Amino acid sequence: MPMGGLLPVFSSPPGGGLGGGGGGGGGGGGLGIRKVAGPGAFRLTEKFVLLLVFSAFITLCFGAIFFLPDSSKLLSGVFFHSNSALPPASDHKQGLGLGGINAGGKGEDGGEGERAAAAAAAAAAAAADNLAKIREDHERALREAKETLQKLPEEIQRDILHEKEQVIQDKLLNKGNADGLPHLDFRPPIGAIGREPTDPDIRQKRAKIKEMMKHAWDNYKLYAWGLNELKPISKKGHSSSLFGNIQGATIVDALDTLFIMEMKDEFKEAKEWIEKNLDFNVNAEISVFEVNIRFVGGLLSAYYLTGEEIFRKKAVELGEKLLPAFHTPSGIPWALLNLKSGIGRNWPWASGGSSILAEFGTLHLEFVHLSHLSGNPVFAEKVFGIRNVLNTLDKPQGLYPNYLNPSSGQWGQHHVSVGGLGDSFYEYLLKAWLMSDKTDLEAKKMYFAAVQAIETHLIRKSSGGLTYIAEWKGGLLEHKMGHLTCFAGGMFALGAAWASPELTQHHIELGAEIARTCYESYNRTAMKLGPEAFRFDGGVEAIATRQSEKYYILRPEVVETYMYMWRLTHDPKYRKWAWEAVEALEKHCRVDGGYSGLRDVYLKRESYDDVQQSFFLAETLKYLYLLFSDDDLLPLEHWIFNTEAHLLPVLRKNNQEVEENHK
Ligand SMILES: *[C@@H]1O[C@H](CO)[C@@H](O)[C@H](O)[C@H]1NC(C)=O
Repeated sequence: MPMGGLLPVFSSPPGGGLGGGGGGGGGGGGLGIRKVAGPGAFRLTEKFVLLLVFSAFITLCFGAIFFLPDSSKLLSGVFFHSNSALPPASDHKQGLGLGGINAGGKGEDGGEGERAAAAAAAAAAAAADNLAKIREDHERALREAKETLQKLPEEIQRDILHEKEQVIQDKLLNKGNADGLPHLDFRPPIGAIGREPTDPDIRQKRAKIKEMMKHAWDNYKLYAWGLNELKPISKKGHSSSLFGNIQGATIVDALDTLFIMEMKDEFKEAKEWIEKNLDFNVNAEISVFEVNIRFVGGLLSAYYLTGEEIFRKKAVELGEKLLPAFHTPSGIPWALLNLKSGIGRNWPWASGGSSILAEFGTLHLEFVHLSHLSGNPVFAEKVFGIRNVLNTLDKPQGLYPNYLNPSSGQWGQHHVSVGGLGDSFYEYLLKAWLMSDKTDLEAKKMYFAAVQAIETHLIRKSSGGLTYIAEWKGGLLEHKMGHLTCFAGGMFALGAAWASPELTQHHIELGAEIARTCYESYNRTAMKLGPEAFRFDGGVEAIATRQSEKYYILRPEVVETYMYMWRLTHDPKYRKWAWEAVEALEKHCRVDGGYSGLRDVYLKRESYDDVQQSFFLAETLKYLYLLFSDDDLLPLEHWIFNTEAHLLPVLRKNNQEVEENHK
């Protein structure tokens, strides 16, 4: 009864029950920054106290001038120091400090006597200057203190507001400074911690998945702590060139999974590592896409779950480092970027120097949130710029080719895929619409039009009755479906939840059929884990025929689709299938040192690839855990999963929480 369980979920009209619920953790309206009386209220009082302390201090120094024999050096040093704490900057500040340093400076080359005399003169001048300056500052401080005391409460209030606006403006003008982030009201996340399931069997299964997470994490910690990934067979670190010299991919990727599983000690050690060690000042080339979905996504997610400023700060800092990737004639970003030089380029193998649809099309959600959290619109402008380019281009048969040249702004090779090179572009269209509280109608239109074209040109049914999504090569179909493509079942189902009523039923069925096909790709192997790609030609269905496509690297897409199908239909078969995957993972991928990918899922004996991918912790285990949790853990109407399963809250259009609707 695949559709039976669906009905209650969809009984309210689109935009009603499902959509009308409360706001996500971030909750701010659009890209704006919430202005509230918060720490700003302290600022003025603090300033006043500072002024008092300062003037007392100056009075002291003033006296010292007359009682200490040679105090000019000391004075300028002290002054320079304390002055930096004084808000109204002085024009002479720099000169003063330097004067002090020069006065004590050393003559480097000849003319020692001359230099010494000049230095003495300079010192004397500086001392006189200092004196006048100190007097001036002292008087000003007193004046300001007096004025503040005389102000009416309204005036003080107005000053506070003014000061806050100034901070925001400064932030907007000064893009390089991630520390000066605007104040943001943090809202406790909705459904970040779930209840224990009441069914003992489900509870036990959920506990098992948590234990798997612990096994993966503990071994990473033991053998590869601080490195990107773990090699579970050789028990050492694994570095992928995708992240350049950035370290700690597994830590950042695992954060939110640790959090929702309530692994508090592990979360704490992860956070401490990030505070002390996560560094983006590396001279290395990175994949913009991978760094965005794993690092920016992971940090954003951790921020929205905890409100810890360190995560917001690091996310924005990294986002700023990625901006030079957009320095292309079309504004379509490069795939690769040197984080130090800011020089970008594309993968050498990509058709005619093109950027890749699934890469530049998978920045949108994170960049909209970066603007939301930084108050800096530049991030959102960049990703909406990408969309504008796409909208001006003709699409062959309504399809989006995988390749787009960032210099010419024209398509490269006309290859179309819902798997690798294309996949998450479509996912992000749907999620951009949902994450905007369904206000981004352009994204909605693009998504449903794209799915329509995909159905017409790419989706086929095998003679055995399995629905699959083929690859399109300039009009010719290759009857192959990738493991990556299996995410589409969940995407169709998620889109169905909010589609127009006539599309709802159709898209949820499409999702169910893709889920079934992907299940078959697992069930038809010896190890009950699916291959990287499977084919529907040469007399086979849902089976890999090429040796190079028989591997399984702990990928999440199939259990991801089970998760969405479970949430949206409550058909028990999805939990059953998911549990079969868990058993297969335990039997074939689990080793002493963690979890390893497999080179060939059709063999009886394991041949390990010796990599514990960071997405195993970020995605595979998270989706499995959600499958065996109640629906109130991370409710789908409040949270959007980025393509690495990191959590981004829906940004409510009216900026209002409707808590009473959320039960
Ligand atoms: C899965 O594969 C087994 C054979 O290994 C078969 O007996 C079983 O019927 C298959 N399950 C489904 C649901 O197709």
